[in-house]
Amino acid sequence: MFSETTTLDAARSDIEPIADAPPVPDYMHEVYNWAYIEPRNVAKLDHNLVVRTLLFLNDRRMMRAYLDRIRPGMRVWQVAHVYGDLVRRAALKCGPSGHFQLTDITPIQVAHGESKLADLPWARVTRADARNFAVDGGKFDLICSFFLLHEVPDEWKHAIVDNMLRQLPEDGELFFVDYHKPASWQPVGWLLRVVNRWLEPFAESLWQREISSFASEPTRFSWEKRTIFGGVYQLVRVTRR
Ligand SMILES: C[S@@+](CC[C@H](N)C(=O)[O-])C[C@H]1O[C@@H](n2cnc3c(N)ncnc32)[C@H](O)[C@@H]1O
Repeated sequence: MFSETTTLDAARSDIEPIADAPPVPDYMHEVYNWAYIEPRNVAKLDHNLVVRTLLFLNDRRMMRAYLDRIRPGMRVWQVAHVYGDLVRRAALKCGPSGHFQLTDITPIQVAHGESKLADLPWARVTRADARNFAVDGGKFDLICSFFLLHEVPDEWKHAIVDNMLRQLPEDGELFFVDYHKPASWQPVGWLLRVVNRWLEPFAESLWQREISSFASEPTRFSWEKRTIFGGVYQLVRVTRR
């Protein structure tokens, strides 16, 4: 069978992915081909400076909020690849006594993730759909979606949020970092309205709806949201009630 899992650590075989390699979804081809599939663009875009520019210099602050949650020895699942060095920094924080699982649905993004993590034997990269990725025999202490939800259609948002909640153990936490509705005084909001019409057709539902509203059973969980940069970004921590 064609395996799309890179097991960088045979010793951590207690955490076995059970999802089959998925097809690349239509929205990736139709909307995000230029950003995440076309190899020449991917090579140019996979840099911290690109992320810093796209996030109006808020990248470090939001990455720090995620990285600060990781302690040595933790088991962390990051549901999609992010350009720049975030995945490596997250894996380094887990350390050799922990486990870092990166998933992504696009082969070239998996390849970039693998090249960033190849020398860290406690890290694993799997081509998988965040809607149904699951592991056998192990649970994650922290599951993070860093700017994935705004890039997927709403029915995918539902399925991804539900799956992340399904994988959440009693004492674990989910962490979402994503767009949010800007305050009326925030001029960047007007720029983002244009960008959303042009390039990000699935983003504005995060302006209109809470991330919790994409969960089938939101009341079983506790949702703590904070926004930054005049409401442009939200950081949402989720734990079991
Ligand atoms: C995390 S999001 C946006 C990240 C951010 N804009 C950056 O700087 O990279 C982009 C990634 O999500 C991945 N992706 C899209 N849909 C996915 C899904 N259903 N499951 C897992 N990964 C997915 C894409 O392949 C892409 O690598």
